[in-house]
Amino acid sequence: MSWLEGTVVENRHWTEALFSLRVSGPRLSFQAGQFVRIALDIAGERVARPFSFVNPPEDPVLEFYGIVVPEGPLSPRLEKLAAGDRLYVASNPAGFLILSEVPEAQTLWLVSTGTGIAPYLSILRTETPWKRFRNVVLVHAVRYSQELVYQEVIRKIPNLKYVTFVSREPHATSLTGRIPAAIRDGRLEAAAGAALDAASSHVMLCGNPQMLKDATAALAERGMRKHRRRNPGHITVESFW
Ligand SMILES: Cc1cc2nc3c(=O)[nH]c(=O)nc-3n(C[C@H](O)[C@H](O)[C@H](O)COP(=O)(O)OP(=O)(O)OC[C@H]3O[C@@H](n4cnc5c(N)ncnc54)[C@H](O)[C@@H]3O)c2cc1C
Ligand SMILES: NC(=O)c1ccc[n+]([C@@H]2O[C@H](COP(=O)([O-])OP(=O)(O)OC[C@H]3O[C@@H](n4cnc5c(N)ncnc54)[C@H](OP(=O)(O)O)[C@@H]3O)[C@@H](O)[C@H]2O)c1
Repeated sequence: MSWLEGTVVENRHWTEALFSLRVSGPRLSFQAGQFVRIALDIAGERVARPFSFVNPPEDPVLEFYGIVVPEGPLSPRLEKLAAGDRLYVASNPAGFLILSEVPEAQTLWLVSTGTGIAPYLSILRTETPWKRFRNVVLVHAVRYSQELVYQEVIRKIPNLKYVTFVSREPHATSLTGRIPAAIRDGRLEAAAGAALDAASSHVMLCGNPQMLKDATAALAERGMRKHRRRNPGHITVESFW
């Protein structure tokens, strides 16, 4: 692994805490859904964290979507970067939240909380989901409606079923509460207009580790289990912390 130097082209702020960094320079080969470590030198030390690619693989400008964790060492500094600033990008993208690891299914469910939507924005802008699955459902759960980001990207994706949850304020077009409860009581299936079961579905889960755990338990009640190469299943997970 080596470090490549990147230049910030744009740092878009969606809210006080949410930002999207566009970075030029490094030419990386990766699969949609993967992540790469990005880094800054802080007090003489290189501090690196994994970030999922938001951009599809053929896009030469890299894009990362982040949130400020106020007590964290890296994210508050990334949020402050401006056009022209430098950062480091590792040369070795990685990760298994990729469609080449997903078995055949009728419906692909891309389920996220918070910044966990990032890898799906890359996957959804490739041809593979549309060639392989009859239904593609994007699920995004956030605390507040202003965190329903990338609307201009999402609304342009033809045939996508898009279901949102806003948990901490009323929002007319979103479900309330949390994803696992809506899996259990059938509200998620009803909102998507697709069955969520072992016979028809593969579910990718990304974001808050507690959501991953709780959603996996709710899916297990429907006879679904984690996918392994040697023991195929219906659930693929990526925890952000
Ligand atoms: C495979 C992988 C992919 C990732 N992709 C992304 C991404 O695309 N965008 C992104 O913002 N983060 C992503 N992360 C998390 C990211 O690597 C950092 O942890 C995050 O940016 C905070 O960095 P920090 O140094 O400020 O704090 P850290 O010391 O890394 O984290 C401190 C605490 O902040 C909380 N936290 C960390 N990340 C998040 C988050 N994303 N949302 C809410 N709370 C969080 C957790 O409680 C964590 O223990 C990913 C992590 C992994 C393992
Ligand atoms: N700097 C700032 O101003 C600022 C602002 C906001 C956040 N932050 C940072 O970002 C962190 C939170 O990020 P976030 O809001 O993206 O993440 P989050 O806490 O993961 O919340 C995102 C969504 O996931 C839901 N969720 C949480 N736990 C779940 C579980 N076990 N099962 C199912 N759903 C679950 C939340 O519902 P609930 O609402 O029911 O929990 C919410 O709808 C904070 O800890 C803080 O460090 C900073």
